[in-house]
Amino acid sequence: MKSPVRLALLGCGTVGAEVVRLLNEQSADLAARIGAPLEIAGIAVRRLGRDRGDLPVDPALFTTDALGLIKRDDVDVVVEVVGGIEPARGWLVEALRAGKSVVTANKALLAEDGGALHDAAVEGGGDLYYEASVAGAIPLLRPLRESLHGDRITRVTGIVNGTTNFILSAMHATGAGFAEALEEATELGYAEADPTADVEGFDAAAKAAILASLAFHSRVGAADVHREGITEVTAADMASAKAMGCTIKLLCIAARGTDAQGRETVSVRVHPAMIPLTHPLASVGDAFNAVFVEADAAGQLMFYGRGAGGAPTASAVLGDVVAVARNRLAGVRSASESAYAALPVRPMGEALTRYHISLDVADRPGVLEAVAGVFARHDVSIATVRQGPSGGGNGDAVLVIVTHVAPDAALAATVSELRGLDIVRSVASVLRVEGGL
Ligand code: NDP
Ligand code: HSE
Repeated sequence: MKSPVRLALLGCGTVGAEVVRLLNEQSADLAARIGAPLEIAGIAVRRLGRDRGDLPVDPALFTTDALGLIKRDDVDVVVEVVGGIEPARGWLVEALRAGKSVVTANKALLAEDGGALHDAAVEGGGDLYYEASVAGAIPLLRPLRESLHGDRITRVTGIVNGTTNFILSAMHATGAGFAEALEEATELGYAEADPTADVEGFDAAAKAAILASLAFHSRVGAADVHREGITEVTAADMASAKAMGCTIKLLCIAARGTDAQGRETVSVRVHPAMIPLTHPLASVGDAFNAVFVEADAAGQLMFYGRGAGGAPTASAVLGDVVAVARNRLAGVRSASESAYAALPVRPMGEALTRYHISLDVADRPGVLEAVAGVFARHDVSIATVRQGPSGGGNGDAVLVIVTHVAPDAALAATVSELRGLDIVRSVASVLRVEGGL
């Protein structure tokens, strides 16, 4: 058995406390797998006086001086489970430049400035691992950055935010509106006190950027991701989806494509979308995550499991700790970031999407023709049209139109023009559609 690999743990909250517990419970097995014991050199937190229950760790290890801990000569690996951009970025760049290996769950930082971390890792010669940053416990980034490196990934479609999946699943199951479902998610401890990052799609967008960077060998940042949250999804939208044999999910979609000049590009987006109940992602309920990967040779792959929570996330963190500890003992580092393709990110307007549009219209001759004319003017082809009574008892009708694939900008312009028609009383619902309908 070699001398211990020493860890600096930054953060001891939901995830960090579980990392400590697992390190304690599994210490003999982990040592056997690595060939050396893992030892905690120190734990940086914000509040030294915080009650940490029965955490199996020496209280003398706690410090508020994260940078001082990182700089210690007896620290080999820095595990960051604090979150946020600063001071985490400064800490990790410092650690990596000094040749330490870093394991982080910080999706916000990786999506904001992952390049700075990768560059610092190359400079210092240590490893940078971040499996826990996307989809919690699900082994997903390692397959993308290692197992599928012999293949060409064409598309990644995922449910990568547990809170919003819980809310949308509840809306589907009970017919509840967004506010009611969010209240239930908060009561059950899924949604945070401030749920903005989840329900507005920021969390999923950060994960989409990380997935796209790995899948397409390009640096994609949070600012490159088109983002829409679920706050505008109504009970009526969900009822409309159910009537079509569909449900609504917050999807992250990263796909290869070509621009007007024939150059290869990627599009990366996060938005709610209708998917048929037969789609593999439709049955992903509760706060679970799932990611569907399509590659030229491998075909379709599905990764499924718990995307959040202390223990599931700590599982992914510890998997990374084992990998970097082994590398250090062997005197090697894993392959550097692969961003050679540097594919440009296409604007959302050029992404090819399909829309489901529900209109309240006057029920009189010529209405269908006028509505169809708007679609034709924007070069958008209609796939199906369904008409029924509006239910308001006013003699109006409901038109439900599903389009073929078209550039998102053309679809948005179509909806905008429809809103201005006097025969259109209201545009009741507009949703993008993914998967065959
Ligand atoms: P918590 O808020 O539960 O814990 C944060 C920890 O960081 C606390 O221990 C806190 O100290 C410490 N901390 C905060 N600011 C500082 C500071 N300036 N200096 C030193 N320590 C500080 O967060 P989570 O455990 O939930 O999340 C940690 C990371 O993991 C984030 O990047 C998150 O995005 C990611 N993640 C979380 C998942 C989850 O399910 N929770 C899932 C996947 C990823 P103190 O204890 O004193 O307050
Ligand atoms: N808030 C995130 C979620 C935590 O709900 O999925 C996991 O990253």
